[in-house]
Amino acid sequence: MTSAAGRFITLEGIEGVGKTTNVEFVRGLLEAHGVEVVVTREPGGTPLGEEVRELLLDHRHDGMAADTELLLMFAARAEHIARVIRPALAAGRWVICDRFTDATFAYQGGGRGIGFERVALLADWVHRDLQPDLTLLLDLPVETGLMRAGRRNNADRFEKEKLDFFERVRDAYLRLALQEPQRFRVITADAPLKHVQARLQEVMTEWLATRIS
Ligand code: TMP
Repeated sequence: MTSAAGRFITLEGIEGVGKTTNVEFVRGLLEAHGVEVVVTREPGGTPLGEEVRELLLDHRHDGMAADTELLLMFAARAEHIARVIRPALAAGRWVICDRFTDATFAYQGGGRGIGFERVALLADWVHRDLQPDLTLLLDLPVETGLMRAGRRNNADRFEKEKLDFFERVRDAYLRLALQEPQRFRVITADAPLKHVQARLQEVMTEWLATRIS
């Protein structure tokens, strides 16, 4: 590959869409193109961020104020951007991030009802000049996602939310995708994994064609 600049790719979606498996799939696709990849996640991705993640997911903090949750997401993100994402991109590596600010628009903006405007204020403050180059939104009906996610033990503070919360999260994600069609690719995840991955491969191949020579 000849591209010197790193690229920033994010995966998004509600619980149960198969993000973790597909992050690894996308990593494999990129590495097959000779790209050096850093895989990371939010909230988390740094020692401080992982500690903030524990606070955010732990039932000890059930009832956390929505603004506290929002600010903790951005606190973890500021650290992640400074310590991991920017240095990797500057070194020409590609970053695949399991969730980024679109998750804050969807979960805090949509799910918690804070609204997009206040999330946008913080996004501008924390990373105005850093946006994903590509966002893969894995989408499926909320009932299906929750059924899949429900198979896991020890549901965290978010996974314990009700159907209507995740309906608002999903709606917000789909609105974001409509607002930025150049950046988003919506992949239907309500299908057998091999079909989802065939579609991901198609989308990535098309996207990469103009970015790798
Ligand atoms: P994960 O299960 O995908 O690792 O994410 C942990 C939870 O954090 C998930 O339920 C979504 C939530 N989350 C937000 O509410 N806002 C955010 O900005 C991010 C990054 C995650």
